[in-house]
Amino acid sequence: MPAEHGPLLDAGAGGGWGTRLATRTLPEAHVLALEPSPVLRAVLLSRAAADADCDRVTVGGDDLLSARLPERLGGAPLANLIGHFSPEERDRLRGLLAARLAPGAFAMVNLAEPVEPALVERTRMTDLRIGLRTYTGWAEASPAGPDRITWRMTYEVHEGERLIGRDEVAYTWWTLTGDGLRSEAGRHGLAVAPHGPADAGLFLVGPDVGA
Ligand SMILES: C[S@@+](CC[C@H](N)C(=O)[O-])C[C@H]1O[C@@H](n2cnc3c(N)ncnc32)[C@H](O)[C@@H]1O
Repeated sequence: MPAEHGPLLDAGAGGGWGTRLATRTLPEAHVLALEPSPVLRAVLLSRAAADADCDRVTVGGDDLLSARLPERLGGAPLANLIGHFSPEERDRLRGLLAARLAPGAFAMVNLAEPVEPALVERTRMTDLRIGLRTYTGWAEASPAGPDRITWRMTYEVHEGERLIGRDEVAYTWWTLTGDGLRSEAGRHGLAVAPHGPADAGLFLVGPDVGA
């Protein structure tokens, strides 16, 4: 990303792994990392505070669509984010990017499976032992409409055989195919180019991507 033309917008930065990767990869880049979840934002801020490269990171808690953004962006890593936005919100997002991306700049978007509504059987997504405790995460999804699914996540903490805690979270995820992304982006004069290995579902979106 041409970070010399403006800050990078890492929206939905989560716990900040991608933010840290951006600052390490682009030593001149300034990054605006937005994360509305207070819990994840605390992890993000503490990760930034512990990393010398991250003195170029500004952390904010705004929702991307209502945040006060820089007038010019050198790029926008939007990792694992797009499914949080409805078709109408995606339209606003593309308008916002089209107005701000500097020449040569682009957003990076990934389309996570399933890209169309489908049942996803319960799958263990993480299993980590720290000290005496094991932290396990499960994910499953079911169709919730013609263009959306509901993800259900279960997080458990065990110490030996004993269950210490369990949290369950359900949220809507809007599905989008590569063709859908191309046609929506085209309406704002943005081009789309696949990037990296096909199974990553990764796309660059920008005014002169692929030109
Ligand atoms: C699946 S996580 C991805 C985190 C990180 N980018 C990564 O790839 O590891 C999606 C993140 O987007 C955030 N998010 C959801 N809606 C958002 C919005 N409207 N504006 C900004 N961030 C949002 C969530 O709080 C969550 O941390």
